[in-house]
Amino acid sequence: MESKIKDLNEKLAQAYLGGGVERINKQHKNKKLTARERIVFLLDEGSFEEIGALVTHRTKEFGMEDQQYYGDGVVTGYGTIEGRLVYVFAQDFTVFGGSLSETHAEKICKVMDLALKVGAPIIGLNDSGGARIQEGVRSLGGYADIFYRNVQASGVIPQISAIMGPCAGGAVYSPAMTDFTIMVEDTSYMFVTGPNVVKTVTNETVTSEELGGASTHATKSGVAHVTSANDIECLEDLKRLLSYLPQNNQEKPRNHPFELKDEVRDVLSDIIPDSANKPYDMHEVIKGIIDTDSFYEIHKEYAENIIVGFARLGGRSIGIVANQPMFLAGVLDVNSSKKGARFVRFCDAFNIPLLVLEDVPGFLPGTDQEWRGIIVHGAKLLYAFSEATVPRVTVITRKAYGGAYDVMNSKHIGADMNFAWPSAEIAVMGAKGAAEIIFKKEINAAEDKVAKWKEKEAEYAELFANPYSAAERGFIDEVILPKETRRKLLKAFSMLEDKEVNRPNRKHGNIPL
Ligand code: HXC
Repeated sequence: MESKIKDLNEKLAQAYLGGGVERINKQHKNKKLTARERIVFLLDEGSFEEIGALVTHRTKEFGMEDQQYYGDGVVTGYGTIEGRLVYVFAQDFTVFGGSLSETHAEKICKVMDLALKVGAPIIGLNDSGGARIQEGVRSLGGYADIFYRNVQASGVIPQISAIMGPCAGGAVYSPAMTDFTIMVEDTSYMFVTGPNVVKTVTNETVTSEELGGASTHATKSGVAHVTSANDIECLEDLKRLLSYLPQNNQEKPRNHPFELKDEVRDVLSDIIPDSANKPYDMHEVIKGIIDTDSFYEIHKEYAENIIVGFARLGGRSIGIVANQPMFLAGVLDVNSSKKGARFVRFCDAFNIPLLVLEDVPGFLPGTDQEWRGIIVHGAKLLYAFSEATVPRVTVITRKAYGGAYDVMNSKHIGADMNFAWPSAEIAVMGAKGAAEIIFKKEINAAEDKVAKWKEKEAEYAELFANPYSAAERGFIDEVILPKETRRKLLKAFSMLEDKEVNRPNRKHGNIPL
């Protein structure tokens, strides 16, 4: 027995070394942790249980028979984060560049299957040269097996991808189908085809970083939801994100212990400027409402005219969607609609109540937006809110104009509680534009056109640039003092805790994609 135990220990020691010391050193030199180091840092101490440490590939071609590494380039298993069960796979770049073989894919599928059966999050730490070139179609099949599982798990268990090295070719589609993608700055990139192919096909000269680095995907494409400065920060970000989410779609997120004390927040009374055309930072409103330091922003640098992210209110997880008057006056456009819709659908799938903070002058006009399909993309946000069955509360802080009033979680599309501050202006459009259209003849006929326009603008504003017409009809449940907002929201979400909605039976809706 002793020799057999020795034999096992030797095999495991080999597995723990991955592609060997030299390649591990190279990984460190490139400012990257190894797959195993990442797992150790991610999970609670001593909680990791590995599955498949002794798996090897089955390829015989290209001299591969003689190149065997236990684990085959991916470390898989389960463990806990803050005591919660999670499944994890971490690609090991020191073994064939973390490339995906048939067996490598089988290992990933095995933990994905377990995660789905048990109902716990799956976390992928990606660092890979893509399809194992020596394996051809077997590798492509392996990718498709993973993609298929990504879709089966979607909306059932949270799926989080960290991109901690290369991620290229079709490999990008697994992270793209997970719920969140976190990219490490400077050491990771994602693209369908790399700079060389780009040069050949389009004659563009571009670096990997420009084409698909963390910053590109965080600002231009929206592929990255969060970026982190390095591996450690990325794993910390991942843990923090997970803390807002439930284990699966049958559960609610865990409540964090919280003692209620500062419910009335005077700071909220001084945020809205006197002039309706002056911007202010909606982050200040968010900060004023939520539990201290509890905001975790998603897509921070993408479509900044809308803010989305998780927060806690009295220890409860909520999702926030808020117009941002600091960028494009908080207007809805193609990108902000897509950003908002995706976030709303995630929250709805995982029982996270939604808070909408509204200050929106409407949809952005112009050929650029129309030709890029603002109709279909704006409809995504409208659809996402309309189908959401989680508790939904809206606070209109200032403008709620036009179609955007309807879209931003209005009562009419199923919101449960709609509040407005006294500064709210709920109307078809701004008073100036409205006066120009409906009082055109009177303005043109007047001796002093500007004075007449101003007079009519004031008349329209008096009538509609307030929350009271909407409140009279019950479209707004209550006009509240800004400083009372947190208290009102705590009560509203508590009242809605057991909300249940049954939808008509159907295979699935047809969201305008
Ligand atoms: C097998 C691979 C590999 C791959 C890298 N390696 N990629 N082995 N299949 N796809 C090996 C290298 O031979 C090397 O082995 C080790 O991994 C490290 O690679 P280096 O090139 O030395 O590292 P680096 O300079 O950091 O460059 C990393 C890289 C580069 C940019 C990822 O290796 C690269 O371009 N690889 C090929 C990428 C690619 O074209 N993949 C296929 C994409 S198509 P040694 O023994 O020296 O350590 C695809 C289709 C998927 O993925 C479709 C799914 C639907």
